[in-house]
Order: sequence, then structure tokens, then C-alpha cells
Amino acid sequence: GKPIIPYEEIGAERLSLLIDAFYARVAEHPKLKPIFPSDLSETARKQKQFMTQYLGGPNLYSEEHGHPRLKARHHPFPITPERAQAWLECMHDAMDEIGLEGKFREVFFQRLVMTAHHMVNEQDSEE
Ligand code: HEM
Repeated sequence: GKPIIPYEEIGAERLSLLIDAFYARVAEHPKLKPIFPSDLSETARKQKQFMTQYLGGPNLYSEEHGHPRLKARHHPFPITPERAQAWLECMHDAMDEIGLEGKFREVFFQRLVMTAHHMVNEQDSEE
């Protein structure tokens, strides 16, 4: 029958491809590049662990790093509505690149929209 766990539906391999395609875009994005480390390999490794558990797979992130406390972990970085939008655009394009489609993509992306908006901790500058 239909997999009940989203993580099983996408699978570890495609999830990994998605995250790599995502950070390749983040590394080139003028609004995101300045707030990320220049070497994104460790960031991508943590994000793969996090997304695994976010999608109902094993708790790889928490086992190594403790409770995600995502909003708190983003506090050191100025996350404006503009940057949240940029993050979501990179994810949208990465989903296109790996050919993620249908209901799975729709539900996953909507969840990311909500989480991204929740991370906003600063307003766009007026200038
Ligand atoms: C870490 C930016 C949204 C999950 C980070 C880091 C930055 C960042 C700068 C630190 C990277 C590093 O030092 O390695 C942003 C921006 C967002 C956003 C601009 C726009 C809204 C999200 C969302 C999620 C997420 C929506 C999850 C659905 C994570 C995780 C980490 C992380 C798991 C690693 C935390 C750790 O160091 O253990 N993010 N993020 N982020 N972000 Fe985001």
C-alpha cells in the first residue's frame, strides 16, 4: 500500500540529492550567501539529519545534536521575510531539479513555508 511515513516515500537517497541541490543554490544566492558559512558541507550534513526526522524517519539530528530548537538555533542569523522567501525559492528550484512532484511535494513544501515563516526574527530594512 501507500507509505505512511513521508521519509519512506522520498527515501534517503533522493532526500540527500534534494539537500545538495538546495545548498548549491544557497551558496550562489546573493541574499543568503552572506549569512551562511563558505563551506556548506557540515550544514548540509546536519540538514539531512534534520529533514530525515522532520519527515518522520529516524531521529538522526536529535541523536547527535539534541532537541532541534530551530528558532533558537537561527537567532544568531538575521532572518528577514526576504531571506525566508529566498530560502523557499532555493528549495522550490531544488525540488524542480530532482523532479519531486505531486501531493508529496505540495504537502512537504507547505510545511516548509510555515517553518520558514516561523524562523523570521528581523524585518527587511527600509533602505
Ligand atoms: C542552520 C539560515 C530556514 C533548518 C542554518 C544556518 C543558517 C540558516 C545561516 C547556519 C548554518 C551553519 O552555521 O552551518 C536559514 C534561513 C532560513 C532558514 C535564512 C529562512 C527562513 C530553515 C528551515 C529549516 C531550517 C525552514 C527546517 C525546515 C536548519 C537546520 C540547521 C540550520 C536543521 C542546522 C542547525 C545546527 O547548526 O544544528 N539555517 N534557515 N532552516 N537550519 Fe536554517
